[in-house]
Amino acid sequence: MTTTTQTERYIPVCEPMLDGNERDYVLDCLDGNWVSSLGKYIPKFEQRFAGYCQATRGVACSSGTAALHLALEALDIGPDDEVIIPSFTLIVSANVVCWTGATPVLCDVLPDTWCIDPALIEEKITSRTRAIMAVHMYGHPADMDAIMSIADRHGLHVIEDGAQAHGAEVGGRRVGSIGHVGAFSFYGNKIITTGEGGMVTTNDDAIADRVELLRNQAFERERFVHHHVGFNYRMTNVQAAIGLAQCETLDDKVAKKQSIAATYDALLSDCSFVSGPVCKPYAKNVYWMYGLVLGDGFDSSASQVREALGERGVETRAFFVPMHRQPVYQGRHKRWPDLRGHYPVADQLARRGFYLPSGCQLTEDDQACVVDCLRSVCG
Ligand SMILES: Cc1ncc(COP(=O)(O)O)c(C=O)c1O
Repeated sequence: MTTTTQTERYIPVCEPMLDGNERDYVLDCLDGNWVSSLGKYIPKFEQRFAGYCQATRGVACSSGTAALHLALEALDIGPDDEVIIPSFTLIVSANVVCWTGATPVLCDVLPDTWCIDPALIEEKITSRTRAIMAVHMYGHPADMDAIMSIADRHGLHVIEDGAQAHGAEVGGRRVGSIGHVGAFSFYGNKIITTGEGGMVTTNDDAIADRVELLRNQAFERERFVHHHVGFNYRMTNVQAAIGLAQCETLDDKVAKKQSIAATYDALLSDCSFVSGPVCKPYAKNVYWMYGLVLGDGFDSSASQVREALGERGVETRAFFVPMHRQPVYQGRHKRWPDLRGHYPVADQLARRGFYLPSGCQLTEDDQACVVDCLRSVCG
C-alpha cells in the first residue's frame, strides 16, 4: 500500500443533521414542561412517520431494538417458536428473538443487495417457524414480494427491520408497511434521528394496540393490575419533537443520500478492486451508508484498508460480523443448531466489506477526497 493522500479535515462516517425545526420544537417542550413520555409531539411524530411509511399506525418507542422486540412480543412469539433472520445483520436481530425465548434460524444473504436470500428461506421453514425477519440492509430493501409470497404460502408473519432504510421502496411501496409489522431506529447515525429512539409501524390495529400496551409496562384501565408482562420502552416528548422536525426534512435527507451514492458511483466507476451498492429494478435504495466490498483479486483485507484510510483522516465502518461467528452465541449449538451452518456470502461480506463516509453533511469535495485516499491506499 502507498501512503500519499491525506484529507484536510477528518471525515466522519456519519453525523446527525438537525437543520430544521428541531430547536423550536424542543424549546416548546421545555417551555411547556412536557419533557416525559406524554405530550403532543408523540402522536404527531407517530402519525407523520407512519404516514411517510404508508402505514396506518406508528408506535414510537425508545430504540430500534425496542421496536423489534415489541414487534415480536406483539406477534406473541415465544419459546418453541422459530424466527428466520439473515446471518448477515446486526446482533440485535438475533438478540430480540432470543429474548422472547424463540430460536433464531439463520439464512444467508444475497451477494449484491446484502439482504436475506429468499431462495434459501423455504428450506429453513419447519413446523415451529412463526416469522421471517427481513432486514433492509444499508438502505436497500429486501426482496419483499418474494418474502411475502413465501410467508403467505406458509402462514408466517413478516417483520421488516427498516432501521437502515427509512423511505426505501419495493415496487413503489414503502418499507415498514409491506410486511405485517415494521421496526425503525432513530439512533444518531440513522437517516433521521431522535438521539435514541425507534418506531413500530403497521397496518394492523390489533398489532399496534398490543405494541402500545407492551411499550408502557402493560398498564391497563385498572391501574397497577397487569395481565401481560410489559416493558418501559417509551419515547419522550422531547425525542418525538426532534423526530417530528426530522420528518419534515426526511425527503431532503433521502435525496441527499441518493446523490451521495451517485457521486461515489461516478468517482469509483473505474475502480475494479471494489464493488459498490446496487439498486435492483424492484427497489428504491436510500443508501443509508455507501458500502464497498473488496474484490477477490485484491490482496489487503478490509481491516487493513480501513486502517490506512483512518490514518488519512477518513473514518469508515466494518460490515457486520455474522450471527454464526458471534462469540456470545457459541456454545448454544444444541438449542440453536443453525449456528453450525454455512453462510458463505455473509462470511465474505464480513471479510471484505466496509462502508465509506455517508453523512448528509458530506460535500462533493469530501467525497472526491475520500476516493483519492481510497485509490492511494489500494493503488
Ligand atoms: C439493522 C438494524 N436493526 C436494528 C438496530 C437497532 O436500533 P437501535 O440502535 O436504535 O436500538 C440497528 C441499529 O443500528 C440496525 O442497524
